[in-house]
Amino acid sequence: MVSGMKQAVEMFKELDQRISHYTDISSLLAWDANTNAPKKGVPMFSKAKGTLSAEIFKLSTSNEMGQLLDALTSAEGDGQLDEVTRAAVRERKRDYDKFKRVPVELYQELVILTSNANTVWVEAKQTNNFALYEPTLSKIVELQKKLIECFGYEGHPYDALLDQYEPGLTVEKLDPLFTNLRDQTARLLQRLRSSSDQPSNSFLFEEYGVEKQKEFNRALLPQLGFDMDAGHMGISEHPFASSINTGDVRLTTRYKKNDLRSAIFGTVHECGHALYEQGINPDFEETAIRRGASFGIHESQSRFLENIVGRSLEFWTYFYGDLKQHFPQLEKVSLENFHRGINTVEPSLIRVEADEVTYNLHIMVRYEIEKGLISGELEVKDLPRIWNEKMEEYLGIVPPTDTLGVLQDVHWSFGGFGYFPSYSLGNLYAAQILNTIEKELPNFYQFIANGEFMVIRNWLKDKIHQYGSLYTPNELIVKITGEELNEQYLVDYLEHKYSQIYRL
Ligand code: CO
Repeated sequence: MVSGMKQAVEMFKELDQRISHYTDISSLLAWDANTNAPKKGVPMFSKAKGTLSAEIFKLSTSNEMGQLLDALTSAEGDGQLDEVTRAAVRERKRDYDKFKRVPVELYQELVILTSNANTVWVEAKQTNNFALYEPTLSKIVELQKKLIECFGYEGHPYDALLDQYEPGLTVEKLDPLFTNLRDQTARLLQRLRSSSDQPSNSFLFEEYGVEKQKEFNRALLPQLGFDMDAGHMGISEHPFASSINTGDVRLTTRYKKNDLRSAIFGTVHECGHALYEQGINPDFEETAIRRGASFGIHESQSRFLENIVGRSLEFWTYFYGDLKQHFPQLEKVSLENFHRGINTVEPSLIRVEADEVTYNLHIMVRYEIEKGLISGELEVKDLPRIWNEKMEEYLGIVPPTDTLGVLQDVHWSFGGFGYFPSYSLGNLYAAQILNTIEKELPNFYQFIANGEFMVIRNWLKDKIHQYGSLYTPNELIVKITGEELNEQYLVDYLEHKYSQIYRL
């Protein structure tokens, strides 16, 4: 039986490799579609992409996969596995257990519906017409509910969706964490508002030539540790990073003539994602664990670089001279005022433009709405009203239009229910990781001020990046920091940083 088991291991590795290859190709197609694919080719190309997705789905849920997973998770099989293969088996089994029960017709219906939904959403957003989007969104919610019944769950039905992005996370764990974060954020916001020394950021919205911005941003990447021979940067309306393999990691940014923040922090954010992917152990290539541990852990790496490093005084102590050379108009703004300006806190309507303090409140609004839709307490037709009520309750402001409100995000149109919490998890993990890095690298901020970013990049690679998804997100955060996710680190970080910026 030992040779039979050895054969099972070999067969599993071959299947794992085939699915990994197809998925890598699929990532390359997605990159192309989101950057430079000509518009006229999109519909036909989407169909070809759909065929590839269907192949991946079939392989992942095949009887062969089921039999191999059964054999390899048995006591005898498990004994044959090395650490990498055991983790790959864990990942493939998660997918198998979820999607095996999903009828292929339901899967295809969802793929077609969500690929067409984007156009409907874009038009509804552009014309401020929620009614146009409502039937499509209702259908998407209905299919999500069917999907959840196939996936199965123990506590709240929303757990089944959360688990897709953050394995192991549940409503029961997340609710108290968000409640505490919300209360503490509200308290901090009130204190910041009471400060008699409010920072000004108007200088950020003067005219900044795009060519000069490009020059500055391109030079940033290698300095932060991005390997220019293992990836490159493009332009897209919404910045993103995409990994084809560890030797080919691509990112985009966007340039706005009247907003200096947009490109810089977009670049630094996506660079955080890209460093993660470039840093994964190349031995994990062609296996299910060759990418980051979860959406939340991934976002922690982008937030860490964007906010904790990129919005620190030390970062600009190092880069501000160079920035002023590109934009002499900044000569009138002191380093300290520049730092205060890029850290201005103000409740605002649009999530992607929100500051570090109020950002998580935007996520909580979406989380509460998604839970309500999935549990059946809320209905899609009431969303514009509910959205505005929640915005008032959480942020104290009401969107004047649905374009600036319920229609602003792309996620629901692609069926990304359960995705939003990852963004806040990223902030939470990042602050907890900061607490550890400050203990292990007591000169952390001095390294930033000196431009010694490789020291930080190597620490992150050593403690986090190299592992890919060898560990589950919970195992990983415990391994890095010695404890499970704890929201107090983010609360303390925000309190400390913004008390200084607002001179409380
Ligand atoms: Co991100």
